[in-house]
Parts: sequence; structure tokens; C-alpha cells
Amino acid sequence: MRPFSLLLPLLLLLHPIFFSPTSALEFLFNSFSNITNATDLTLIDDAMLDATVIRLTNDTVQYSVGRVFYPTKLAMRPTSNSSSLTSFSTSFVFSVLPEIASSPGFGLCFVLSNSTSPPDALASQYFGLFTNATAPFVAPLLAVEFDTGQNPEFNDPDGNHIGIDLNNIESAITTPARYYDSSGGLVPVQMRTGQNVRAWIEFNGTNFEFNVTVAPANVSRPSLPTLTYRDPKIANYVSAEMFVGFSASKTQWIEAQRVLAWSFSDTGVAREINTTNLPVFQLSSSSSSSLSSGAIAGIAIGCVVVVLVIPSGFYLYWRKNKLEREEKDEIEDWELEYWPHRFSIEELSQATDGFSKDQLLGFGGFGKVYKGTLSNATEIAVKCVNHDSKQGLREFMAEIASMGRLQHKNLVQMRGWCRKRNELMLVYDYMPNGSLNRWIFDKPKTVLGWDQRCRVLADVAEGLTYLHHGWDQMVVHRDIKSSNILLDAEMRGRLGDFGLAKLYQHGEVPNTTRVVGTLGYLAPELATMASPTAASDVYSFGVVLLEVACGRKPIEMEAAEDEVVLIEWVRELYARGRVGEAADRRLEGQYEQEEMEVALKLGLACCHPDPQRRPSMKEIVAVLVGEAAAAAAPAAFLSELARGDSNVFSGGGGGSEEESEEVAPLQPQPPSV
Ligand SMILES: *[C@@H]1O[C@H](CO)[C@@H](O)[C@H](O)[C@H]1NC(C)=O
Ligand SMILES: *[C@@H]1O[C@H](CO)[C@@H](O)[C@H](O)[C@H]1NC(C)=O
Ligand SMILES: *[C@@H]1O[C@H](CO)[C@@H](O)[C@H](O)[C@H]1NC(C)=O
Ligand SMILES: *[C@@H]1O[C@H](CO)[C@@H](O)[C@H](O)[C@H]1NC(C)=O
Ligand SMILES: *[C@@H]1O[C@H](CO)[C@@H](O)[C@H](O)[C@H]1NC(C)=O
Ligand SMILES: *[C@@H]1O[C@H](CO)[C@@H](O)[C@H](O)[C@H]1NC(C)=O
Ligand SMILES: *[C@@H]1O[C@H](CO)[C@@H](O)[C@H](O)[C@H]1NC(C)=O
Ligand SMILES: *[C@@H]1O[C@H](CO)[C@@H](O)[C@H](O)[C@H]1NC(C)=O
Ligand SMILES: *[C@@H]1O[C@H](CO)[C@@H](O)[C@H](O)[C@H]1NC(C)=O
Ligand SMILES: *[C@@H]1O[C@H](CO)[C@@H](O)[C@H](O)[C@H]1NC(C)=O
Repeated sequence: MRPFSLLLPLLLLLHPIFFSPTSALEFLFNSFSNITNATDLTLIDDAMLDATVIRLTNDTVQYSVGRVFYPTKLAMRPTSNSSSLTSFSTSFVFSVLPEIASSPGFGLCFVLSNSTSPPDALASQYFGLFTNATAPFVAPLLAVEFDTGQNPEFNDPDGNHIGIDLNNIESAITTPARYYDSSGGLVPVQMRTGQNVRAWIEFNGTNFEFNVTVAPANVSRPSLPTLTYRDPKIANYVSAEMFVGFSASKTQWIEAQRVLAWSFSDTGVAREINTTNLPVFQLSSSSSSSLSSGAIAGIAIGCVVVVLVIPSGFYLYWRKNKLEREEKDEIEDWELEYWPHRFSIEELSQATDGFSKDQLLGFGGFGKVYKGTLSNATEIAVKCVNHDSKQGLREFMAEIASMGRLQHKNLVQMRGWCRKRNELMLVYDYMPNGSLNRWIFDKPKTVLGWDQRCRVLADVAEGLTYLHHGWDQMVVHRDIKSSNILLDAEMRGRLGDFGLAKLYQHGEVPNTTRVVGTLGYLAPELATMASPTAASDVYSFGVVLLEVACGRKPIEMEAAEDEVVLIEWVRELYARGRVGEAADRRLEGQYEQEEMEVALKLGLACCHPDPQRRPSMKEIVAVLVGEAAAAAAPAAFLSELARGDSNVFSGGGGGSEEESEEVAPLQPQPPSV
């Protein structure tokens, strides 16, 4: 135990304790409860006190930045003309909790700044502290970053590192977040799991040395620092007096950056924080509770897939019975195991007016889809799919059940299920604005603007990123196409029907392979391998991206011969350096030329014949949302394209579209909900 822990009994109060002998700056916040912002802390922009902690960004605003400072500035030099700086010691506990584990990360900074609002700070990026200018200038601003995102263009080693920033988002030094345990071993520290992380920063103003240490809050202080940085240049980045505090920012992804406790001293080692009773933050993991609250708040949609083969004798027997009787008798144990919410057939029948024709929304890829309204006025959609084999139903149900737990703002939420004889019905959120294809091809009343299209594409890319990376097991969608992309009341894009394609595979004789997907969207490798992967989803997404940018279907039989296949046509234009001409005419030039070209090139990159060379969904999201920070990640494939080397496409799967046409049996493109 360290000697100053003997002071602990003095520090147990929840209220901060101040010692202000002359110019010394020393304080301890074991919690931030009962603090009035005007006097004890300076809260800037979106930062706020939230019960006992400080929240730096606001979840509900898309671009958020927040800073918190101690209101008294720190005198940076012991005497006004001293060449050495003031030494200080600080320790704090923070928690960084993303809503979606796979979304881009932001992190937070401990900062010393001449101003509580650094003049060149960007509003939503770079911790809300730095400019995006490439040649940072000398200004009184230095920070220790706890970065939970990777910006390769700034040489970030990974999405979980610490670094020293001298008025520059590109750190002077970085190191992965980890600590030395008592035997000298390095233990990684995950800073983006919401767990409470403790940091210690020691600065020696005589030799300009920073030591930074991170460890989980329940681990005692490691004896060796994680990072040491010594450089007299640091003196260039300080002013006579500086504010000390924290800063963070975020774009549209939610990442809660919290500071739970903070101790600071410029006269010795910062006093110990009592970490025993700190709050713990995690996502509410109970999907059922969020489901029900969502159901109350929102719209539900029903969908039904029915898969059963029943000997005809049984069938006739059941027919004779009343519906409810039949239904009850049919429930098997395993059905109850899997599903969080089981609708009764009466409920769904009532909701859809007895599955009346008037309620028919269309024929989805898997069967009829009805619109319905539950007794609590919740709107739902009910999808019915017939299947020719009972074989695999259980397996399929297990899979769909696990998908019922997938929740993301860009997925159409499944609400429940019902089975009636040989029909299984799945209940989903109702999407009032229908599917994307209707807004792009079917002579819509209003042409979707480019910004709106980009937003929908980014939404879908995010949803798909979640399927690929946000869940403990990767979920391959297998059937991405514009008719499977739905628009909610706010015209935000949501991906539907994920995983349903598997139903068809399960029903097949094991040794035969049958490609599931939709003609025109299928990756060429599926012709030979028939096992869908994340990369084949990326291919289909690329086709959708091109459709949306060009405003035409992937295969347009009426088009001129060399324009029938969308990808071929765009590639051809690209090879001739005229890719911009593929843009949808109906947009009437209402878009940034450069943005359009990046989108088209991105679409082509996604449709690269070699699955290995397609970008990942994460990289795609980064490009689509114009994260300057992330734009360099796909720079490699974009620059490959930029070289004008159209041969990149003839490597792996020449004539790919024709191949996939031959192999893909599949549904014609169905209109869907
Ligand atoms: C905050 O102050 C109120 C009233 O002064 C008191 O009841 C409450 O316990 C305090 N909360 C904490 C966490 O100290
Ligand atoms: C912070 O101060 C502002 C005005 O000074 C006040 O409106 C706001 O409610 C305060 N917030 C908190 C969390 O105390
Ligand atoms: C977040 O921002 C929204 C929109 O500006 C605002 O209405 C809301 O009060 C903010 N939330 C908090 C907790 O400050
Ligand atoms: C500044 O430094 C000079 C010598 O370098 C010293 O004589 C003087 O007292 C110092 N002034 C202050 C204000 O410390
Ligand atoms: C630091 O801030 C003070 C007052 O806010 C200002 O007068 C001074 O010019 C700033 N110094 C630098 C180097 O920016
Ligand atoms: C920096 O941001 C400004 C304003 O957001 C933008 O105009 C400029 O292009 C950006 N520069 C770089 C190098 O990203
Ligand atoms: C800072 O470093 C100098 C030289 O290494 C050393 O003499 C001094 O004790 C250190 N000061 C602190 C506060 O650690
Ligand atoms: C940084 O850590 C090293 C190694 O433990 C130590 O020798 C040095 O004094 C520390 N410096 C500061 C400023 O704490
Ligand atoms: C710290 O907490 C984590 C998670 O609660 C636990 O796995 C770990 O064993 C704890 N470590 C120590 C040293 O208590
Ligand atoms: C930390 O605070 C708790 C009460 O919140 C107290 O019971 C405990 O003894 C304190 N720990 C130390 C080491 O002082």
C-alpha cells in the first residue's frame, strides 16, 4: 500500500475537498454529485452533470462536443520567468460505453488549455479540441488522449490507445492501452467496454516528462507507467495559466464518455480516489425489457413464416378443429424455448382483418406480407412464408430467435412470431415509407435527393456493420438488395429480412448447394463456392450503392447492350475516366461531384471480383459518413481504383455477372414491403 493511502480516511466525503494554500491547485472529486456547475466546475457545450458523474457528450444530438474544466487555472510556471514548468499529478476514473460495439470510437482527453473553447476545435471530431489542419501550429494546448477509435491517417496503432497530443490530433507518441502487472507482464486494458478505467498522469515540469498509466479501476496502481514521454518542446505548448479538464466529441454514433472521479494536485502526488462505490455503466442487456418498452413506444410489424409438412391425415384432423384449439395443440416445447414473444393467431388475424386482401402489402421474398394494427394501435407487418420441408425448421427457428435479439436502429426490428399449422409468422416493425427500390426506380412522386440517398446508404451500411461485427457471431445477411431496405417514418434506412435466406438452405438436401440471393446482387464467387460470407454481402451492398447513385436496376434488359449490367457499365465508364457520368440524371446535378465519384468508386470497390480486396463494412461506413478521420482506411482500394487500372476487375472473376446469372436460380426480384 502506498504511503499516502494513509490519508484516505480524510477523503471519504462525497463532497470535493479543497486545499488552496496560495497558488496551489489541489482537489479531489470522489463523485460529482451535488455540484453546481457555475462554481465548482465549468461545463462547456454538451458536457453535463448526470447524477454522480460527468457526461461529456449528448447522445441525442448527432454532432456533440463537451468539455469540463476546473474553474481555476493552473499556473504553469513556478515563477514568471522560470524555464521549468509546474509539475502536477492527477488521477481520474472514466468509462467509455458505445451503444454499438462496432461503431467508430471517439474516446476522451485529459487536457490543459489556455481557453475552455480552443479556437480551432472541430465540433464533432478530434476530441473537440483540435483542428483538422495538416500542419498544426504552436498554441497553448496539450492533451493526453484515451482514444477508442483508430485513425490510421494519424498513425493510431489501434482503436484502444493512449497518447500525448501537442496541439495536434496526430499524437507525439502513442501506445496501446495496457498496464504492467506486479510480475512485469503487460495486461491489455479495454477502454471501450464501459468498464471503469483509472488513469494516472504525472508531469515533471523540470525535465518535461509525462508518465501515463491506465488500468481497470479495481486494479491497484501499477508500479510502472504505461507510457513515458519526455520532450522540452512541451514548454512551447503552455501558456502562463491553463485550464485543466476533460474533452470529448462524437459524430452520429453514441458513445457515452463519463468521468466518475477526479483528483488533482500541483504540490505532490494527487490524493487517492476511493473507487469502491463508483457506479458501473453497461448497456442494458435484457433485450426483452427493451423490446417491451420499444413495443409500447413504437410501431410493431408482424411477419410470419410457416414451415411444416404434416401428413395429410393430421392436416385434415387439425382442419376440423377450431383455430385456437389447433394452435394450442401444435405448440411444441422447443417453440416456447426460443421465442420471447409469441402472438396468438387471433391477435394477428384481428390485426390484419383476417389477413384480408386489403391489408396485403406485397409478396416479399419469402411470402405474403400483410399490414396490421394491434389492439394498442401499434402498426405491424406480418410475413407468411411457406416451406416445403419440416427438416431444419427447428434449426432455423433457433437462428431466427437469436436474430430476434439483434437490435440496431438500422435493422427492421422483429417483434415476435406465431405459428398456425404449417404457417409460421414473424412480426416486424411496420415501415411506413416502404422499400428503397420504390423511391429509386418506380417513378416516385418525389425524387430522393443525394443527401437523403447518402444517409440511407450510410444507415444500411451501419446496420450491416452491426450484423457483421457487432454481435458475438457474425451474421451474414445473404440477400441485400434495394427491396430489402426499408425506410422508416424519418426516412432512415433499415435492413430487413436478415438471416431469412438461410431458411431455404436448411430445407435443402445437405450435399447439394443452392445459392440463395437475388439475381444481379450475387457476388461472383458464390457461383463456385456457394457459401455466403461478409464479403459477398459487401458485394451486394456495392450493387445497391451503385443502384442508388445511378438510379437504375442492376440489370436493365431494355438498356443498350453494353449498359444492361449496371456494374459493367459503371466499370466501363470508370475505365474511361468518366465515372461521374453514371450519376442518376434525375438528381439534376444537385450533388457534390466529388462525393458522387467517391460513392461510385466505393460501389465499384465493393464489387471487386476478388472478395479479399473488397473493403470491409466498417471501412465503407467510414467513407459514407465522410469521417475525415476514417477516410484514409479505404484509401488503399480507392487509390487502386484511382490509378485508372480497370484491370483490377478482371483478376478474379472475369465475366462475373454472367456467371452468377447462370448459377443463381432464385427468386425474381419480388416487390416487397
Ligand atoms: C445531494 O444533496 C442532497 C440534499 O442536499 C442529499 O440529500 C443527497 O444525499 C446528496 N447526494 C449525494 C450523493 O451526496
Ligand atoms: C449549469 O448552469 C446553467 C446556467 O449557469 C444552468 O442553466 C444549468 O442548469 C446548470 N446545469 C447543471 C447541471 O447544474
Ligand atoms: C441533448 O440535446 C438535446 C437537443 O439539443 C436536448 O434537447 C437535450 O436536453 C440534451 N440532453 C441533455 C441531457 O442535455
Ligand atoms: C527573472 O530571472 C532573473 C534572472 O534570470 C531574476 O533576477 C529575476 O528575479 C527573475 N524575475 C522573476 C519575477 O522571477
Ligand atoms: C491565453 O488566454 C488569454 C485570456 O484568455 C489571452 O489573453 C491570451 O492571449 C492567450 N494566450 C495565448 C498564447 O493564446
Ligand atoms: C477541415 O475542416 C474544414 C471545415 O470543416 C473543411 O472545410 C476542410 O476541408 C477540412 N480540412 C481537411 C484537411 O480535412
Ligand atoms: C523531476 O525530475 C528531476 C530531474 O530528473 C528530479 O530531480 C525531480 O525530483 C523531479 N521532480 C518531480 C516532482 O518528480
Ligand atoms: C516516470 O516513470 C519512471 C519509471 O517508473 C520514473 O523513473 C520517473 O520518475 C517517472 N516520472 C514521473 C514524472 O513521474
Ligand atoms: C476487476 O473486475 C473485473 C470485472 O469485474 C474482474 O474480472 C477482475 O477479476 C477484477 N480484478 C481484480 C484485480 O479485482
Ligand atoms: C471507500 O468508501 C466506502 C464508502 O463509500 C467505505 O466503506 C470504504 O471504507 C472506503 N475505502 C477506503 C479504502 O477508504
